[in-house]
Amino acid sequence: MTVAARVAGLSLLLALVCSSGAIAAAPQYADGAEIFAANCAVCHGSGGAGQPALAPPLLANPARYATVAEGRRQLALTVLFGMFGDITIDQKHYSFKMPEFSQLDDQKLAAVLNFVAFDLAHAAQEVKPIGADEIAAERGKGLDGAGVREHRAAVLEALGSG
Ligand code: HEC
Repeated sequence: MTVAARVAGLSLLLALVCSSGAIAAAPQYADGAEIFAANCAVCHGSGGAGQPALAPPLLANPARYATVAEGRRQLALTVLFGMFGDITIDQKHYSFKMPEFSQLDDQKLAAVLNFVAFDLAHAAQEVKPIGADEIAAERGKGLDGAGVREHRAAVLEALGSG
């Protein structure tokens, strides 16, 4: 085999390895990933790690919320009505304002929450995906960002980390 052929073979192998890696990393909720990139990443970061003192990380709580009914409501309420007031995650404070996203339809909000809960926060596969019906059920509840923050505190207390 010539050197050129060996190099060609090697680059083909590398290309295969790289492309299979990219496939493995593809989001489970690709439609939600697009909505997240367009609406949420500016504050929470494209990988959901958050920004110090500004926007909290979305890498743990959303997966825990998804396991209980009130937590699933909390996820819907947060995107429908926003959240306002100081919160603490891993001993770090965040007190910027999360805007509301009620202009996005139920399907889109469910998709972005599934991307957050499953792709970013790694909720277990046996957890049921958030359905558009769960978003619809919370629309029109008339909460504000302060009310959503109060509900959050109750949910976290019930989950054992208030
Ligand atoms: C302008 C910045 C900003 C944008 C844009 C934004 N967020 Fe937030 N988000 C925040 C802030 C700030 C908080 C915490 C609010 C507080 O301190 O009360 C938050 C909180 C959250 C929480 C609650 C986390 C927890 O531990 O309870 C979730 C879930 C969330 N955001 C999801 C989203 C999603 C999904 C989008 C896009 C549809 C989005 N955010 C867009 C700033 C933002």
